[in-house]
Amino acid sequence: MKSVYIRGNASLYGEVTIQGSKNAALPIMAAALLVPGVCVLENCPRISDVECMCRILESIGCGVVRKGRQIRIDAASLTGSRLPGEYVARMRSSVMLMGPLLGRLGEVSLCHPGGCVIGDRPIDMHIRALSRMGASCRDDGSLLFASSCGLRGTLIRLDYPSVGATENVIMAAVLADGVTCLENCAQEPEIARLCEFLTCCGASIARKGPGRLMIRGQSRLRPCVYTIPADRIVAGTYLCACLAAGGEVFLRGAPAGENDALEKTAERMGAGLERTPAGLLVRRTGSLLSPGEVTTGSFPSFPTDLQSPLLAAMAQAEGESRLKETVFNGRFGVAEELNRMGAGITVEKDLARIPGGRKLTGRRVRARELRGGAALVVAGLCARGDTLVENRGYVDRGYEDICRDLRLLGASVQEG
Ligand code: EPZ
Repeated sequence: MKSVYIRGNASLYGEVTIQGSKNAALPIMAAALLVPGVCVLENCPRISDVECMCRILESIGCGVVRKGRQIRIDAASLTGSRLPGEYVARMRSSVMLMGPLLGRLGEVSLCHPGGCVIGDRPIDMHIRALSRMGASCRDDGSLLFASSCGLRGTLIRLDYPSVGATENVIMAAVLADGVTCLENCAQEPEIARLCEFLTCCGASIARKGPGRLMIRGQSRLRPCVYTIPADRIVAGTYLCACLAAGGEVFLRGAPAGENDALEKTAERMGAGLERTPAGLLVRRTGSLLSPGEVTTGSFPSFPTDLQSPLLAAMAQAEGESRLKETVFNGRFGVAEELNRMGAGITVEKDLARIPGGRKLTGRRVRARELRGGAALVVAGLCARGDTLVENRGYVDRGYEDICRDLRLLGASVQEG
């Protein structure tokens, strides 16, 4: 697999435009299955997960035309409901095709979805919620089958505000018979973007308070044109890069109000942030300070997807930091590679202790999943000497071109 070659120990200065959001684009591409016509999505990120979703949609009869960052999805005549294992196995977000296919065709079959190894990723909440709406779900150990003679609206309360389960229920409910009240649902910005897209297609979705949605099923949806918003996790990753390496960068298009927990943490660490209508100016020219303890959680808490990039920055900070991961039970895997660079991180269950005050040393390190791979690139920027991050393919799942972006910020980074 390709790699990233980083010359470290240099501050960042420059401007980068933030790409479209992976975690907004993928559910919206799935939701296009609900529309018997052509939906046009603008500003889609050119990343491998989006390519994978395009292949899945094509495999069940969608016409998919990609022109730059525009994707046209024609779901007028679907030809199948069995999702191709080779793509589903690569991507956890394949599970969110269950809702739209049950809503549109009344059936779906898929292998257990794969994706980044960041801990247990069951789909019990998805299955329980879809079953409550009238789907009958069967798992023979390798394949999941779900079918329904017509989904019906009902009250669903999620045990945990799962992003994917929330998205699946919303997509199952928009064509269901009657009203679905969804409680304790995820509040990540990507949920609001999915609701915006579906409302633009004629769905009836009302927010009834924090974590509460009411969806009134419609008989048919209509095509629409929708622009994918900027990716808050990519913006947050580059904010962590500037924290770690120091300097001053402008993140053009960085969404406002979607990274408050990270921005407050960055200010505690010594960064100066200036929000403008065009984006976010990040400056870190003084010492990098420990933020104390940071705990991840569902939105608006600190996002689990930025836990690893922050870990890399904390390794450089003066004084001990602690990072508590409450969302995925296997998301500290990158600590082992960071420790090979001298970070000295100790992990005990869901808590990582980072001693800080150390100058990392450039090494040959290996990405094992998407955000951990991005964290290793961040660490390479501030390390003494050169770093080679292997398995760049993991990073390419979520970042259009991390080398291009970081070069725009003045980093000495090459594709290997
Ligand atoms: C989405 O994953 C994101 N992926 C993840 O981003 C993100 O980390 C996660 O939400 C949390 O914000 C996409 O949007 C494509 P969850 P998802 O269901 O939906 C447990 C990235 O790096 N759970 O909110 O899979 C689960 O095990 C990716 O861009 C169940 O137990 O996350 C986890 O502990 C990684 N049963 C917690 O809930 C279920 O049925 C949160 O998972 C479903 C989830």
